[in-house]
Amino acid sequence: MKLIMLGAPGAGKGTQAKKIAAKYNIPHISTGDIFRANIKNGTELGKKAQSYMDQGLLVPDELVCDLVVDRIQQEDCRNGYVLDGFPRTIPQAESLTAAMEKLGTKIDYAINVEVPDENILKRMGGRRACLACGATYHVEFNAPKTADICDTCGAGLVLREDDKPETVQKRLDVYHAQTQPLIDYYTKAGVLAEVDGTQDMEDVFKAITDLLGE
Ligand code: AP5
Ligand code: MG
Repeated sequence: MKLIMLGAPGAGKGTQAKKIAAKYNIPHISTGDIFRANIKNGTELGKKAQSYMDQGLLVPDELVCDLVVDRIQQEDCRNGYVLDGFPRTIPQAESLTAAMEKLGTKIDYAINVEVPDENILKRMGGRRACLACGATYHVEFNAPKTADICDTCGAGLVLREDDKPETVQKRLDVYHAQTQPLIDYYTKAGVLAEVDGTQDMEDVFKAITDLLGE
């Protein structure tokens, strides 16, 4: 099962992608998580990506495409994967389509988690992220057992640099300009599925599993 999660920043792509990955036993590939891990480890890629990310801008396509095309050819991807945060521009989608064609395969579903901007602005200030293992929480909707401590790995939780309100607005603008056109792209490809992301997390997940099957 080869899936793409589409949706605005904060729509719940990561939240749902982790649940999908666990249920269907496929890897969750988040380009945002990959960049954050590289920043934390001080790699060349991390240094290049950080200034774009902190401003709420997209990292240039050439830093992203090869990385993902490489990743989906690794052994653990043979039964599928869930891509979260990629593709994010039409050129990224075209490069993924071309690479998959070469591999003789295609995307099964691009799942668009639909949430209006006003809900997103409310959500983001409450998100807390674990930069050690990638887990995500919300102070109100999905609180960790102990405040500001990751349930999974025990590391401290943080408010992501790009979750400050002015940067969230910038990310939403970038989303509408550069990423929303992918809804059309995947509709034309015949693989778009829409899910109402304003529901409770469990209800969003149920809508997705109804689509994908048991
Ligand atoms: P990335 O990490 O992908 O960020 P994003 O797309 O902005 O998405 P988020 O992670 O903010 O939101 P999400 O949809 O995963 O929501 P979540 O599940 O956490 O990218 C960061 C940056 O990296 C980009 O800005 C860019 O610079 C760069 N980048 C990454 N990929 C790139 C690419 N391909 N090309 C170029 N640049 C790239 O949920 C949000 C919050 O809401 C959480 O607190 C959660 O607990 C809560 N929540 C989730 N679902 C619900 C619900 N149903 N009800 C209530 N609360 C909910
Ligand atoms: Mg995410």
